[in-house]
Amino acid sequence: PKRIAVFISGFGSNLQALIDACQRQAIDGEIVLVASNQAKAFGLTRAAEAGIDTAVVDKSDYSDRDSYDVALAELIDDYTVDLIVLAGFMRILSPAFVARFSGKLLNIHPSLLPNYPGLHTHQRALENGDNEHGCSIHFVTSELDGGPVILQAKVPIFAEDTVQLVAQRVNQQELAIYPLVVKWFCQDRLLMKDGQVWLDDHLLGPAGYA
Ligand code: GAR
Repeated sequence: PKRIAVFISGFGSNLQALIDACQRQAIDGEIVLVASNQAKAFGLTRAAEAGIDTAVVDKSDYSDRDSYDVALAELIDDYTVDLIVLAGFMRILSPAFVARFSGKLLNIHPSLLPNYPGLHTHQRALENGDNEHGCSIHFVTSELDGGPVILQAKVPIFAEDTVQLVAQRVNQQELAIYPLVVKWFCQDRLLMKDGQVWLDDHLLGPAGYA
């Protein structure tokens, strides 16, 4: 089984979906570490309940992003990890960290990338009058939310929607597709090469597929 680290900052619903998928052996992997930049992240409780090692890396203990990321990298090296899964990790990783773990770093983003990189994606989709929205899983590159997309799920936006309703609808899809992509990775079916994604030796298009 592949050794997986999950980075979180909050509630950890995506983490939980991955824990569950590993436990029922839908993913041939073991989550060996859950790291959070927020000591109060509920996801840490989920990890502890599943018997997974946890670590809090608090930014106030580091003078800058580079030294923070060196600490993160050392943690990852201690656990000899095959894959790092960002699951609601609300920090930007430095180019050095991204380069060091290139091809082994996945992120989930709550929009149909390349639409709405960054924050407040649901609000921006609503304000823009979009009638569809969704989530994307991509390999991480040094461009923020700009790495090649592996898989997306679309949801409708309805006229009477609120940020909360849209967020719930998107999150439900996240919980379905993140375990699937991690499963593919752990089966060695997924590869990033020259900034592009290959699945089962097929090149995926620039926007992945829905
Ligand atoms: C998810 O919706 C994820 O897409 C988003 O944070 C949420 C985490 O939820 N990620 C980002 O915004 C990354 N910039 P969770 O803690 O319940 O998994």
